[in-house]
Amino acid sequence: MSQTLHIVTAAHSAVSAPLTVIYAAEGKAPAGAAAAVWAATGLDWVQSTAAGAFKGRQGQVLDIIGAGGRRLLVLGSGDADGDTPLNGWTDRGGSLLGKIAATRVETAAIVLDEPGATPAAIGELAAGLRLRQYRFDKYKSARPDDPTGTLTLTLQVADPAAADLAIADRGATVDGTLLARDLVNEPANVLGPVEFAARAAELAKLGVEVEILEPAALEKLGMGSLLCVAQGSDRPARLVVMHWQGGKPGDAPLAFVGKGVVFDTGGISIKPAASMEDMKGDMGGAAAVTGLMCALATRKAPVNVVGVIGLVENMPSGSAVRPGDIVKAMSGTTIEVINTDAEGRLVLADALWYTQDRFKPKFMINLATLTGAIIVALGHEHAGLFSNSDDLATKLLAAGLSANEKLWRMPLGAVYDKMIESKFADIRNSVGRPAGSITAAQFLQRFVNDVPWAHLDIAGTAFGVSPSETNASWAPGFGVALLDRLVRDSYQN
Ligand code: BES
Ligand code: MN
Ligand code: ZN
Repeated sequence: MSQTLHIVTAAHSAVSAPLTVIYAAEGKAPAGAAAAVWAATGLDWVQSTAAGAFKGRQGQVLDIIGAGGRRLLVLGSGDADGDTPLNGWTDRGGSLLGKIAATRVETAAIVLDEPGATPAAIGELAAGLRLRQYRFDKYKSARPDDPTGTLTLTLQVADPAAADLAIADRGATVDGTLLARDLVNEPANVLGPVEFAARAAELAKLGVEVEILEPAALEKLGMGSLLCVAQGSDRPARLVVMHWQGGKPGDAPLAFVGKGVVFDTGGISIKPAASMEDMKGDMGGAAAVTGLMCALATRKAPVNVVGVIGLVENMPSGSAVRPGDIVKAMSGTTIEVINTDAEGRLVLADALWYTQDRFKPKFMINLATLTGAIIVALGHEHAGLFSNSDDLATKLLAAGLSANEKLWRMPLGAVYDKMIESKFADIRNSVGRPAGSITAAQFLQRFVNDVPWAHLDIAGTAFGVSPSETNASWAPGFGVALLDRLVRDSYQN
């Protein structure tokens, strides 16, 4: 059991705590409310910083233990004249949580009194605190020295009421990111298609309407592509449709579609054993869509949105789909299954067609841990962005930069499209190594019709990322903050 984090706000100098944190900019003594806190120590600033080699650079700490064990941390806030962008405050919150956790206190007061400490900045800082504190340790037995109970942090700010609003608003997005992390981290023996659908159904308590389609219904719709992936597993497929109606009734919705392969063995084209355990995260796209719906509903976003996730398990068995099999998608397109490990595009083919056909959305964005090739191209730093709309792509790239979930645009084109033609059917699901991420995207595009569409290949960013200021978990919950930002900046009324 890990520690519960409790974040509250108060006016300046309203509270004192066993640990107080103040900031000082590079080459400057603490200012404003922080100056008063420093003065109370009775210490000389020049002498103390010289002794601690403290310059006020970002990441530097001056740690002072006073009488009665009261402790003061002075944290460097970097260049005093450099304008900290909002997403810099998220990182600052993450870094702050790391420093406080290391002291093992249970209560701390943080003095936030710089010119840039606007309510929005405080909201980001609080988000960073929560994102950094997240652990997925529910399957670990407790060790005696693990911190338990509650860590209470009081943010001392100029306008506590305004800060509270900003913290709650940004906190809704954090809720979504943490839900996505939980879903991706959960092992596949616990989270099958049925269990994932049940987790999505819990969003009903936030006002999300959730429909769950079972195999008989999917069969009736003609989803031979999605269903062929599930046919080798003992656990049946589900298609979940989540509706958030925060906008004007009748307004066309925004649509988000996720790949939800709860475990990808590769099927008959089975994967090698090394790192196959990571394939419990092959539902990272579906997790991001579910997390996004949670975020939008929690903050009551004034917009109509539909989230569609295709949930299957890709297993080899006597009933599994084989290489060479030909299946028919809901669109009527026939697909030759060359490689059963190229299963994500088979799931999305039907999920995408269904979504544009039923909802006529303003746009359709899908997220999928689709190809190993995108990791070869972009590593774990950027997700691949493919789009038939320059306008949507531009907005997504900008949202990625502000949310610090970065995208890099990749090409689409007729020459790549030609590569997916099949000898026996309309198209084939696997081509070969060259341009592997692009041919996968071309395959998806066959099922989007004329809707403005973007595909995010998140194979490199949904799990297995290196720890950052805002994430210590295997799964960062990639995509939720990015898409929530997109909605906030461009699609809310
Ligand atoms: N889920 C994998 C892609 C993947 C690999 C995600 C590594 C995250 C980490 C996907 O289903 C897959 O197996 N893709 C194949 C496609 C190939 C057979 C055309 C791949 O990338 O090798
Ligand atoms: Mn696969
Ligand atoms: Zn997969």
